[in-house]
Amino acid sequence: MTEHRSGLPTDMTVPTITLNDQTTIPQYGVGVWQVPPAETERVVSDALEIGYRHIDTAQMYGNEAGVGAAIKSAGLDRADLYVTTKLNNNRHDPASAKASLEESLDRLGLDKVDLFLIHWPLPTQYDGDYTATWQALIELREAGLATSIGVSNFQPEHLDTIVERTGVVPAVNQIEVHPYFANTAARETTARHGAHVEAWSPLGQGGGELSDPVITAIAEQHGKTPAQVALRWQLDLGHIVFPKSTHRERLAENFAVFDFALSTDEIAALAALDKGESGRTGPNPDVFDWIPS
Ligand code: A2P
Repeated sequence: MTEHRSGLPTDMTVPTITLNDQTTIPQYGVGVWQVPPAETERVVSDALEIGYRHIDTAQMYGNEAGVGAAIKSAGLDRADLYVTTKLNNNRHDPASAKASLEESLDRLGLDKVDLFLIHWPLPTQYDGDYTATWQALIELREAGLATSIGVSNFQPEHLDTIVERTGVVPAVNQIEVHPYFANTAARETTARHGAHVEAWSPLGQGGGELSDPVITAIAEQHGKTPAQVALRWQLDLGHIVFPKSTHRERLAENFAVFDFALSTDEIAALAALDKGESGRTGPNPDVFDWIPS
């Protein structure tokens, strides 16, 4: 059997999902939220060696240059890589949105990103006009700076509003989802519009979930780790997912999720762990209003 350099068998193939704009996205990737800029090149290089081909970054993370350096040194075909970045909260006005994406492309060393997202709706900022920002992303796609466009942290009302006002459905809505926070209304609205759910913080930020007895029992049953079970659950739900780790061995562990599947009962047992709003680890998008200076 041939192996990746990480020692993983090459049959651990990442499934591909077709989005509503008929483009395709690897269902699994690596996220770099909270990866320090100085470590990002090493983390992304490790991920690419292990076999990850989808990288999820953001202007707000401050580490696009590290992603770009890793992409450059990997020397992979551009067509084999999928790169997402996100609009920072201080760049929502349409002219600034365009300039910000050009700056991102420069840091990433790319001509276009595969996916560009509005990071947060900020309904209490910019006169609540996230539709103007969405219109700016539509124009950036038309200008060829992003192959696909989408949103992140959009609540049902925000999604309904931009679709009603522009007629353009985002390709994805990237939202917080993990066993303690099912985020059901946002997931259902995303699906109703024909957009795809991308799940952020699939490990609940490495907190209590990974020692929950339901998850540890399922993990034991499959000879897998709790993190692998939490990640497999997202894949079985059809979500696009990109766990983050700064540790190479965890990047490898998190990639070894394509050789098992959860049963219907196990999927239901994980869904039953939902704590509703109290399971949320990040900010509530209805009130989150932080703008970097
Ligand atoms: P680290 O980067 O030190 O490995 P989320 O994606 O839900 O935000 O979770 C990310 C957190 O989970 C990080 O703190 C990360 O820590 C930790 N983490 C990533 N992979 C694993 C794993 N396989 N087992 C346990 N914790 C993990």
